[in-house]
Amino acid sequence: MTGNRPAIPLRFSGVGSALPQKVLTNDDLSAMMDTSDEWITERTGIKERRIGGSTSGLAIEAGQAAITRSGFDPASIEHVVLATTTPDKRMPGTSATVARELGLTCGTFDLQAACAGWVYGLIVANGFLAQGMERILLIGAETMDRMVDFTDRSTAILFGNGAGAVVLESSDQSNGELLSWDLGTDGDLLHLLYTDYESSLHMDGREVFRKAVSVVVDSSQKTLDKAGVRAEEVKLVVPHQANIRILESAWKRLGFSIDQTAVVLDRTGNTSAASIPIALDDAVQKDRVDDGDLVLFVGFGAGMTWGSALVRWHGN
Ligand code: UT7
Repeated sequence: MTGNRPAIPLRFSGVGSALPQKVLTNDDLSAMMDTSDEWITERTGIKERRIGGSTSGLAIEAGQAAITRSGFDPASIEHVVLATTTPDKRMPGTSATVARELGLTCGTFDLQAACAGWVYGLIVANGFLAQGMERILLIGAETMDRMVDFTDRSTAILFGNGAGAVVLESSDQSNGELLSWDLGTDGDLLHLLYTDYESSLHMDGREVFRKAVSVVVDSSQKTLDKAGVRAEEVKLVVPHQANIRILESAWKRLGFSIDQTAVVLDRTGNTSAASIPIALDDAVQKDRVDDGDLVLFVGFGAGMTWGSALVRWHGN
């Protein structure tokens, strides 16, 4: 479904991220399995990723950084949405741990839409703001090293751990807004990428790659068309960080350039639901986005789920 233009102000009041300390390079992986830095770099663009930490620990660190940068009293947060595929426990939601450690007693829940989860969270959070909430903490956090089999070279090289967070605010002082969005699922593609209870991640990489390019193109184009925006008018695209070749193929068809794109996958690998807010934080810290700029988010992953959202940026 593609969203209509909501007339509510949206401000990214604070953005933050967290990565665990431990770096796992392509050379480290080459010592563990039959692969090489050359193969991984050429096929994916990834040079290293981080491992270790816990999903709640990374989410708390990223959430705290976003709140600190927003300058707001944490108690003013009215809801926490945590997008994750790797919760600390089967229950309760990891968001409850995050809320406790941040000193919050507002509503919280975990959101599971695989690597597209953070974009889903953005639409959900915007809905809460439209309902009258003023401030929401939206986090994506993952510990993918708990899900992959480190003897399987076709998947182990891709993933990493991390978290990213934003404080979203609706206030009359904001000129930002969510202009358009598109969310979708093709459940017939479920078999391409899944993790069962008690087993590690299974992926048909080649097919995921093919479908990913097609849904990224379709969803992004729908979202741009809905807002009447051309690719060259977008200041920054913040895509899910899975494989640089997926982006290169999709960008050729969409008319985007890599220069327009927030890319951190060389340092982080694929951090699933955390990858978009981590890349956003990197871009914000590098002053790559100004108030009034158009920013496109696009995510895709297991399900197969996908989502894109175009915002007129208003930062802190
Ligand atoms: O969040 C979404 C999650 N997933 C994705 O986005 C993944 C999408 N898919 C991909 O990124 C790519 O398909 C991969 C990076 C996983 C694989 O790249 P590929 O270019 O599609 O390689 P392939 O699977 O077609 O395999 C080519 C060859 C095979 O050998 P043969 O059969 O040609 O002899 C593989 O066995 O490369 C071999 N191979 C490797 N070689 C060295 C597979 N993994 C490795 C490896 N190191 N790590």
